[in-house]
Amino acid sequence: MKVTVVGAGAVGASCAEYIAMKNFASEVVLLDIKEGYAEGKAMDLMQTASLMGFDTKITGSTNDYGKTANSDVAVITSGIPRKPGMTREELIGINAGIVKTVATSLLEHSPNATIIVVSNPMDTMTYLVHKATGLPKNKIIGMGGALDSARFKYRLAEALGAPISDVDGMVIGGHSDVGMVPLIGHATRNSVKVSEFLSEEKMEWVVEETKVGGATLTKLLGTSAWYAPGAAVSSMVQAIVCDQKKMFPCSTMLDGEYGLSDICIGVPVILGKDGIEQIVEIELSDAEKAKMQESAEGVKKTNGLLQV
Ligand code: 2OP
Repeated sequence: MKVTVVGAGAVGASCAEYIAMKNFASEVVLLDIKEGYAEGKAMDLMQTASLMGFDTKITGSTNDYGKTANSDVAVITSGIPRKPGMTREELIGINAGIVKTVATSLLEHSPNATIIVVSNPMDTMTYLVHKATGLPKNKIIGMGGALDSARFKYRLAEALGAPISDVDGMVIGGHSDVGMVPLIGHATRNSVKVSEFLSEEKMEWVVEETKVGGATLTKLLGTSAWYAPGAAVSSMVQAIVCDQKKMFPCSTMLDGEYGLSDICIGVPVILGKDGIEQIVEIELSDAEKAKMQESAEGVKKTNGLLQV
């Protein structure tokens, strides 16, 4: 199985690294527009292979999409990351043109690839890839919910004073500071609802910290995060490449599900060899439905800025 990661920045390189460490893909191609950069990252990563015990072959390419030919999965991380104080939505002007060019170049050489979009504003970039390529909707997947849910579990474990392996929870909605919908009412510690352990105030704290998870890191790091985004993408790639039928919240094109249409937004899906194999419709409370609706309005507003 061959995986291409476009953008050899911190998120792209972490993604390639985690894919290699999990040892499930035969080949990873890192591609970047900066001369020699992807080749350098690939070589550095390959020099960890004997130390870390992986056999995945990682190669780099300076904007030569020929080297990505016949990829099974392609990840788009290209574009600029946000700086402290910026919203993801503010990146649309620069990133839309880049993402469109990358998606069409990828498909010229890998017409059967499943595309995972990471570039921000992610839900709108996923929508753009749909409009620009016309690929079937199961083949275009936005990465947001897998990351936001990992951040949710981190905060839940912190609030509960529990190990992360004890907690489960999911974030749906748009991948934005205001649009995320952490499903606190569904979150559990070993199948017991977290409301059994946490006060209303503590649960509110978990929800709010989760929503600004990316912004908190951007403030601390001076740029956006990469380890958790890279790990989240690598888990999604693994689910597809290994046909795991694993459930993740992902940004997907909706056609009536959750009462929404003509929008890409985070909802639970089953990932397997055919990409998004099923959209899972779970029962939401009235408050959760209202939050989802509000989140969708935000995403649609950003989509309205696109010139497709
Ligand atoms: C984040 O939330 C990269 O949008 C991504 O860190």
